[in-house]
Amino acid sequence: MNNIKEPILSVSNLLDIRTLPSEDISILLETAQSFKEILRRPNKKVPALRDVCIANLFFENSTRTRISFELAEKRLSADTVNFSTSGSSIKKGETLLDTVNNILAMKVDMIVIRHEQNGAPHFLSQHIDVPIINAGDGTHEHPTQGLLDAFSLKEKFGYLEGLKVAIIGDILHSRVARSNIYLLKKMGAEITVCGPPTLIPNHIQDLGVQVSYNLLETLKWCDAANFLRIQLERQNIKYVPTLREYSYLYGLDAQKYKSLLKNIVILHPGPINRGVELSSDMADSENAIILNQVENGVAMRMAVLYLLGQKIK
Ligand code: CP
Repeated sequence: MNNIKEPILSVSNLLDIRTLPSEDISILLETAQSFKEILRRPNKKVPALRDVCIANLFFENSTRTRISFELAEKRLSADTVNFSTSGSSIKKGETLLDTVNNILAMKVDMIVIRHEQNGAPHFLSQHIDVPIINAGDGTHEHPTQGLLDAFSLKEKFGYLEGLKVAIIGDILHSRVARSNIYLLKKMGAEITVCGPPTLIPNHIQDLGVQVSYNLLETLKWCDAANFLRIQLERQNIKYVPTLREYSYLYGLDAQKYKSLLKNIVILHPGPINRGVELSSDMADSENAIILNQVENGVAMRMAVLYLLGQKIK
């Protein structure tokens, strides 16, 4: 990139936020800002990853992350190939490692992977030597979502240090919650997690967060609230009696928002269960930055790809 100082990440893969140094997080936030400015230009494409081939391996469903990575890659002039489980030889019993080694044999330089198994990107990193980016692994971490959420908060407030952030809902199954907690704590934010007791993991306080079971108290405390999706597909037992009760206790609607007597910023990683976590008027309100998060996701993923791409050149 012209006129941009060339920072170097200390890591060669983006596997999680837990082990990512805060210096690397700062570099990623700054680099994403540069890319955001580029994305606002009529010509959004830069030649930074020309001749680099990136495989997007999505073993689990995705809309935002998959399209966001692909757009980020195209805007960096990389070549891309996309893999999804349906229609692949995974259905014939091929292992994850065999699948990835076969794709790498076709001279792929970088891997983006989403997988339903916790630790799948970490496992691959022990067996292959191209940069790996975790695009969400099971209930473990979703590092680029954590980064884009932090970027969006910093853009909105101008700072992260001392910012009061609430994370609301299904903390137990949420890789987004875990990546947000690790990242925002490293950057000096205060965090309260709030939800039904059955969806708050035991010992979550050990991560340096406060726990609340009271939505309105939490919202009155915070500057920004990140509402998480109830992950019905990961719940093999019932954690809440009904979605209606969950929504009554932990969903946000205009009436509850008005009762706060203050403005807070609303985030949601998507996909939204409208009428469950957020009423439609809240999801679409001027206090919600949900589509800004999506826009910023492309800039953040460009930053991740660009900086890790420097390691293979
Ligand atoms: N936020 C997020 O990961 O959305 P997708 O599952 O659509 O990628």
